[in-house]
Amino acid sequence: MTDSYESEALLGQYLDFHYRSTDPDYLPHHSLPEGVVNYPRRCAEVLLKNAINYGHALDLGCAVGGSSFHLATRFEEVVGIDFSHAFIHAARHLAETGHFRHSETTYTLPSEARKCRPTFQWGDACNLPEDLGTFDAILMANLLCRLPDPARCLSGLRRHTRSGSLLFITTPCSWDEAYTPREKWLHPTLEALHAHLDPWCENLDTFDMPFVLRDHPRRAQFTIAQASLWRVG
Ligand SMILES: C[S@@+](CC[C@H](N)C(=O)[O-])C[C@H]1O[C@@H](n2cnc3c(N)ncnc32)[C@H](O)[C@@H]1O
Repeated sequence: MTDSYESEALLGQYLDFHYRSTDPDYLPHHSLPEGVVNYPRRCAEVLLKNAINYGHALDLGCAVGGSSFHLATRFEEVVGIDFSHAFIHAARHLAETGHFRHSETTYTLPSEARKCRPTFQWGDACNLPEDLGTFDAILMANLLCRLPDPARCLSGLRRHTRSGSLLFITTPCSWDEAYTPREKWLHPTLEALHAHLDPWCENLDTFDMPFVLRDHPRRAQFTIAQASLWRVG
């Protein structure tokens, strides 16, 4: 079911969400408050503010790379991984050239991101390569409830962290059998996250993060993601 992220329509939707959400024509008939736009950047900022070390960062389920570029303004090396070939192609093109053209729109990296060069690779968050290495910060933005086996993903992350690493997980908690078999849902999400992460992480904070994802100039989803920040012990 993760193939749904290969469509041209979703590619355009996520390019808009990552690179144009502050443009006046993102939702031209209604102005959006600052607190609901720039979601990929706001997610990255939580790690930029709280990290202890700024060596390696991982953006898991990076889509078209908006958070990865922002992480790379401070982290020395950033890797973005996603299951969608179309998204990874767009993110790589942006990294190589600073822009990407899709359906008559040219997306351009913000100026502070143009000198950053995160690397992007196709991959499965539930089966990460063992030699991926360890990270000082891992972002999983709106990925958890799109995975076939979210618990497997969480336990797999342990080998890619070290003491002091940060893990930032946001999720709309919109569990759906189209993505995750019901018996694998982590529900209620926060309790399940504690059950899986408390043995090796400390929960530093839990808060709400609203965002707006447009699919038409007159229509958008308004979602309040649950965000939780964890430090590996
Ligand atoms: C709801 S989108 C969130 C994207 C991005 N993090 C954001 O906040 O805009 C979910 C992303 O997870 C990716 N994804 C789905 N299953 C995956 C998997 N098994 N491994 C890695 N990425 C996956 C999708 O391709 C999509 O880019």
